[in-house]
Amino acid sequence: KRIAIFASGSGSNFQAIVDAKKKGELAADICLLVCDKPNAYAIERARNENIPTFVVQVKDYPKKEDYEFAILTQLRDYEVDFIVLAGYMRLIGPTLLEEFEGKIINIHPSLLPAFPGKDAIGQALAAKVKVSGVTVHYVDAGMDTGPIIAQRAINISESETRESLQTKIHEIEHELYPSVIEQLLTKSGEVI
Ligand code: GRF
Repeated sequence: KRIAIFASGSGSNFQAIVDAKKKGELAADICLLVCDKPNAYAIERARNENIPTFVVQVKDYPKKEDYEFAILTQLRDYEVDFIVLAGYMRLIGPTLLEEFEGKIINIHPSLLPAFPGKDAIGQALAAKVKVSGVTVHYVDAGMDTGPIIAQRAINISESETRESLQTKIHEIEHELYPSVIEQLLTKSGEVI
């Protein structure tokens, strides 16, 4: 299978997926990074790994539909058959959803359906929950609403800070996401 990764930021999950591939833990071909932020560090990571990057900005297109069509054209050119969102900070619109129905997944730093949307870590800390976590889910038209594939819980300590929780979440994500991708693409069984 040929996968494209979409990112808007640091791309540590992108890196974890690439590293899993290098270690032989992932069979998929990572053929494209799609990035909507020209200064994102993810772009540099892709360059270092010799992975082609499509940098694309919504503001350069008259409508979001046109923006997504530009992405779709690239995905077709690269013969992508699966999309992995890794810190991509936009909703996926109908143009991409229709062509990639059931073939787009996302990772979110909370136990959905708790704390969807932006700053899930800040939301969890503000709510003073004792447990939060990470969710991998299929993408639908909503904000972090698609069917859940896998979850991992994380205990939040009394002294937890945004930084410490962020670190714990990233550690879990970097292990969980590549393994879920591998399971989804190679096995038909349930993802645990
Ligand atoms: C991750 O925490 C992910 O759950 C969220 O955005 C963050 C992206 O981090 N959707 P990175 O860019 O992969 O480092």
